[in-house]
Amino acid sequence: MEALVGRDLLSLADLSATELQGVLTLATQMKQGTVTPVSKKVLGLLFTKASTRTRVSFSVAMYQLGGQVIDLNPSVTQVGRGEPLEDTARVLDRYLDAIAIRTYEQQDLETFAHNAQMPVINALTDLAHPCQVLADLQTIQENFEQLSGLTLTYFGDGNNMAHSLLLGCALTGVNIQIAAPPDYQPLANVVQKARQIACDRSEITITTDAKAAAEGAHILYTDVWASMGQEDSAESRIPLFEPYQVNSELLGLADRDAIVLHCLPAHRGEEITHEVMEGSQSRIWDQAENRLHAQKALLACLLGAS
Ligand code: CP
Ligand code: NVA
Repeated sequence: MEALVGRDLLSLADLSATELQGVLTLATQMKQGTVTPVSKKVLGLLFTKASTRTRVSFSVAMYQLGGQVIDLNPSVTQVGRGEPLEDTARVLDRYLDAIAIRTYEQQDLETFAHNAQMPVINALTDLAHPCQVLADLQTIQENFEQLSGLTLTYFGDGNNMAHSLLLGCALTGVNIQIAAPPDYQPLANVVQKARQIACDRSEITITTDAKAAAEGAHILYTDVWASMGQEDSAESRIPLFEPYQVNSELLGLADRDAIVLHCLPAHRGEEITHEVMEGSQSRIWDQAENRLHAQKALLACLLGAS
């Protein structure tokens, strides 16, 4: 995957369909125990939002590849005291080999990437969560031994997860349906971009009808109804989002071999029931594990290992 060396991953749209499939193939090999050393390389983690999976899986991935991680938590760096991102990026670029950033505005990520030569990885913004979708696609491919031709339905908020799933499905030929309340649909420009990428490779449907979108789906996917930074509207969203809860009734409408995914953390009893989360069709824990393998593959590609 020489073509990815030194590149940024700010969005899945930064990858071609072939490059994305290459990362997924390497992720499977990583899971089987392939080691692709990146000795002496250092990844910075600059997270202005909480994280369990992304922080730990990136850290373990670098350790297993033979590199290191430095935690650049804004509360212990000058970032938290307002040093401009442009200045921070130019300085960190002289120390680090790559950086994973979790923040609010996609524009901050773009600004950082513009001011740094090293690969900049989107570890979640309000707009996108591409690393999660690498693991999601790996999990789907593991289950169905293919991606193209399957149908994934995402239920809930048209948020960062919905956006990255739209792009990831478009790149891999998975049909995607987003079932979201009228005022919480994904951004029109992301849907348009996904349609452009998909061409006739997959179908993209945006709807408010959860039941219709569940029918025959192979993958039911959901995420929290209020994302990080939206805590103030969490209560008021509940009645609007109730019809989109992934429960056994909705699952009963899907394909009989359907699987259930959730990026986690979950609010059991809101976007998903405890029963479905722990049920036989849930692949949520494999999905969480795959964050490690998929990001290990991504790091090996961006850092130019073997
Ligand atoms: N799914 C995910 O990104 O989890 P964290 O917020 O724990 O990193
Ligand atoms: N949409 C969620 C995803 C968490 C992994 C959030 O942004 O908080």
